[in-house]
Amino acid sequence: MLPRGIGGSDDFVDVCTTLQVPASGAHFVSARGRDVMLTRGKDQQIIAFAGNCTHAFAPLKDGRIENGEVVCALHGARFDLATGRARSGGCPNLPRLAVRIEGRRVLVRPTPGPAR
Ligand code: FES
Repeated sequence: MLPRGIGGSDDFVDVCTTLQVPASGAHFVSARGRDVMLTRGKDQQIIAFAGNCTHAFAPLKDGRIENGEVVCALHGARFDLATGRARSGGCPNLPRLAVRIEGRRVLVRPTPGPAR
């Protein structure tokens, strides 16, 4: 078994347990030095987004959760927790990251894939 935080050859990083990702709200982790925001979609599947605001890259973990959105602490941009869609300020949507569930562990590939 690989030590926690060390992924295999496929670039996934073990970041937390499934129980740490709340049914509503967000859980913030770091994967290979990159901020990651974990949330749940409409059917409660775990979703990962880049954890920095797309306006000026402030860490979203410093913001607040409000009405199904994360609100950036720096200038107030808002992003939907279930989709990563920007709801204000003309910012790009949050980049989505690949997630893999292994047992009760959540693994994330911390590099954004192509835009969706
Ligand atoms: S850095 Fe988030 S709104 Fe400006």
